Amino acid sequence: MLFSRFPRVHLADLPTPLQHLHRFGASVDHPQLYIKRDDFMSLGMGGNKLRHLEFWMGAALEQGADLVVACGRPESNQCRLTAAAAAKLGLDCILVHNTEPPGFLQGNILLSHLFGAQSIYLGETDEETRQQEAVALVERLKAEGRKPYLIGDVALGCLGYVNAAIELHQQALARDIDLRQVVIVGAMGATAAGFLFGTALLGHPFHVHVISVEYSREVLWSILERNFNAIGSLLGIRPNVTLEEVATIHMDYLGPGYALPTPEAIQATRDLAQTEGILLESVYTSKTVWGLRDLVARGIISRQEAACVIHTGGGPALFGQAQLYQPKK
Ligand SMILES: Cc1ncc(COP(=O)(O)O)c(C=O)c1O
Repeated sequence: MLFSRFPRVHLADLPTPLQHLHRFGASVDHPQLYIKRDDFMSLGMGGNKLRHLEFWMGAALEQGADLVVACGRPESNQCRLTAAAAAKLGLDCILVHNTEPPGFLQGNILLSHLFGAQSIYLGETDEETRQQEAVALVERLKAEGRKPYLIGDVALGCLGYVNAAIELHQQALARDIDLRQVVIVGAMGATAAGFLFGTALLGHPFHVHVISVEYSREVLWSILERNFNAIGSLLGIRPNVTLEEVATIHMDYLGPGYALPTPEAIQATRDLAQTEGILLESVYTSKTVWGLRDLVARGIISRQEAACVIHTGGGPALFGQAQLYQPKK
């Protein structure tokens, strides 16, 4: 099997549900819209990072780790899910944040704390400094006799989304859904790159629309290319289909920048909540669903072809975004 060489821990509830968006689809006049619920996992409130963590934690346990170190801002979903997975597996967890300590814990950082993780606050620094600090911490821990594992090997984590593409394809086949279009988020590009690699391995059964929520087209493309090639090297396989054939990047939904909300994405959150009872947050998933809606409206995703959006989770962040959704006075 494709992944059998890689130690893997069962953390996500797979396959995640593939659901028909009856009412949301009707509101955009598309009868065959689907959502893949990667937000729907029982551990730590779920999300895309649990698929990555299955492989990261597999490697950690194989190496005999007694502690994991992860980096991110306090609102990071990756930190929250690393803390949850560590709790489940009986490992200690240290989170390295590049901010000042928050005065009040809420959203993801509250949950990371509840899962028992220790947080270190470096103050406002860039991601490179944060990574250097984390590497230095790992060295200090080793010198103290601990066995730390640093979370974040990108290619290894991407395997989770290679698998997600295969999983979605199998679900669609089993339900006789002729799935032709998929919409997925692109921030640091690990989720999308894995999914694109899986799609290429399958021979391109569906086209993948990557909604950029962080970087310019050029930067995101180079990240996707780098990750795509790194996955190929890790697995020792080159798909016959190229990245160019499988993927289109869309820049129209980023708005003013990463984590900066747009009125259309806020509306997408309201619409999906009120037509389907499904929650989005404003950094990743609401811009992605807005992208799906607009690509349908513009005819880029045809109303004659089944399409699916990947819900990557992030729900706990919504409570930190409450100001965006207050009723008008
Ligand atoms: C909920 C959620 N969705 C999407 C993403 C984006 O994934 P990637 O950085 O792999 O593009 C993240 C990343 O942190 C996330 O937390």
